Amino acid sequence: MSPGSTTEVCGDELAKKASAHNSPENVSEKETETPETIVEAYEKLNLGRDISNVFTGSTSVDDGEKKEGDQRNKTSQEKEMVETTAEEMTKSSNGVVAGNGDFEVVSNINNGGGGKTTSILKPSPSVGMSLENLVEVSNVASGKNGGTENASATAMMDEAWDLLAQSYVCFKGQHVGTLAAVDNSAEALNYNQVFVRDFVPCGLACLMKNNADVEIVKNFLLKTLHLQGWEKRIDNFTLGEGVMPASFKVSYDAQRQKEILQADFGGTAIGRVAPVDSGFWWIILLRSYTKCTHDYSLSELPEVQRGMKLILNLCLSDGFDTFPTLLCADGCSMIDRRMGIYGYPIEIQALFFFALRCARQMLKPEHDGKELIERIDKRITALSYHIQNYYWLDFTQLNNIYRYKTEEYSHTAVNKFNVIPESIPDWVLEFMPLRGGYFIGNVSPARMDFRWFLIGNCISILSSLATPVQATAIMDLIEERWADLIGEMPLKIVYPALEGHQWRIVTGCDPKNTRWSYHNGGSWPVLLWLLTAASIKTGRPQIAKRAIELAEQRLSKDGWPEYYDGITGRYVGKQARKNQTWSIAGYLVAKLMIENPSNLLMISLEEDKKITKPRLTRSASWTF
Ligand code: GLC
Repeated sequence: MSPGSTTEVCGDELAKKASAHNSPENVSEKETETPETIVEAYEKLNLGRDISNVFTGSTSVDDGEKKEGDQRNKTSQEKEMVETTAEEMTKSSNGVVAGNGDFEVVSNINNGGGGKTTSILKPSPSVGMSLENLVEVSNVASGKNGGTENASATAMMDEAWDLLAQSYVCFKGQHVGTLAAVDNSAEALNYNQVFVRDFVPCGLACLMKNNADVEIVKNFLLKTLHLQGWEKRIDNFTLGEGVMPASFKVSYDAQRQKEILQADFGGTAIGRVAPVDSGFWWIILLRSYTKCTHDYSLSELPEVQRGMKLILNLCLSDGFDTFPTLLCADGCSMIDRRMGIYGYPIEIQALFFFALRCARQMLKPEHDGKELIERIDKRITALSYHIQNYYWLDFTQLNNIYRYKTEEYSHTAVNKFNVIPESIPDWVLEFMPLRGGYFIGNVSPARMDFRWFLIGNCISILSSLATPVQATAIMDLIEERWADLIGEMPLKIVYPALEGHQWRIVTGCDPKNTRWSYHNGGSWPVLLWLLTAASIKTGRPQIAKRAIELAEQRLSKDGWPEYYDGITGRYVGKQARKNQTWSIAGYLVAKLMIENPSNLLMISLEEDKKITKPRLTRSASWTF
């Protein structure tokens, strides 16, 4: 590598491996028969991998391994039990798949099954129902239909694997991450670095593909852990020990004649923003790696346990707060510019909750671990109560807020945060459908940020921060407001855009975040994987299928842009990089999950029955 160049990309042999993975021979083995029960449907999509725990609600890494092991030796009796569980779930209607109420159990008199009950899929109002269509998606993707759509989708997958491999970054002969973008036509800025948050969908794609490339994920986790250990100074100030970098790059030190790592903890980032999300994503990816590989030796390493503890100590320390949510500065997440998300943004709270639950599975009680686990448990309970109650907005709750009295004092207050009804923006009154709901952007004294944020809502579903009823309502809202949230190119990072005076005040006249552009109402293809995961988890894969089809019409032709602009996301973003790696990986992960829903288990957590169920809406406080 030449002196001064920032990163060495060594992807050739990987490019070959990656495209071999997606060869028609590989994908053509998928199933075609029409399934009779939910479990059969999933099993047929499943290429032999166990998803019985999707139905039985397994949460722990240990549990997952045991189930997968069991599945290999599953007797017909056991299989029957799994089917029974699925049938029971359709009755109880509160599980992963049946949670949306789209299934009902009827006596199947025509199937020759002698009165055997079979799950009949009832279409949801706007999309036509899921599992049958999910099988269809699988067939289309697997080449059984032999249509042109299949051919172009397969070509697109091949291209995506190639591009992903080209973004690989080498350090001392090992792949340690992926470049944010490989676009030689634009100024690199920091897009030639490995971003922690950007690597997550890349890492998931590597874990989910056939012949999983687990090494790059492991190396990435270890390298970033190593960087966490550095002393982090910005001017005369030293950052907390647990802070994970936003990004790092590999440089060549000509004097010492060796490759070196350089990390950015926010000290060189535009606006000097704090990457609060990095540590959470790191824990989440560590759990995905463990879930995928069953290699517990990594998460159990003393250094890794210590790294997790340091991240958590940053967030669990006592302070002045009256809320269990985490106080953040603006620009602390994927939206890493001033966008009015300071305070208690849902994007971070949902990731915080997710990371707490992942860490809870991986932390060992030895030494000070037990005490930390107790703190985590308490925080998980408090956080879920707070978010499920105070961030939830649906038509009824909006009406409650609209009629709020103010200046209430004491425990009996209904309007706990003294929100002034006049602060409800006009757009939300129009936007809120009768069917559906979502977690709003931020809640603090006299401030409710009613904006819709995609990551916070999808992560809430994946981490089971949202109750099954709330998860269903979030997906309902996406269907009801499809034109606004998905439009012509999935997906809006936030809705709506800040305009005029508000844009000037909130963004500080940011020319990159003008209305309906970039973070301010722009559309980000990377978010497709999150929507897909949430759709599958709630039993609504048809939603993801529609979004994926939209992306397939443009994404490759447009050169895999970072983001799109405009109210409907029609235009390639003003300053969008091309060959943006997480746009590529986001598409791959979405496809890998829709083709094989059991991949969802690598990222999703089931409901923890021990977490106290809160009341759904704040209006319940009338009962005091
Ligand atoms: C931009 C995005 C940020 C991303 C980075 C690299 O700064 O706002 O979320 O991590 O680009 O792609």
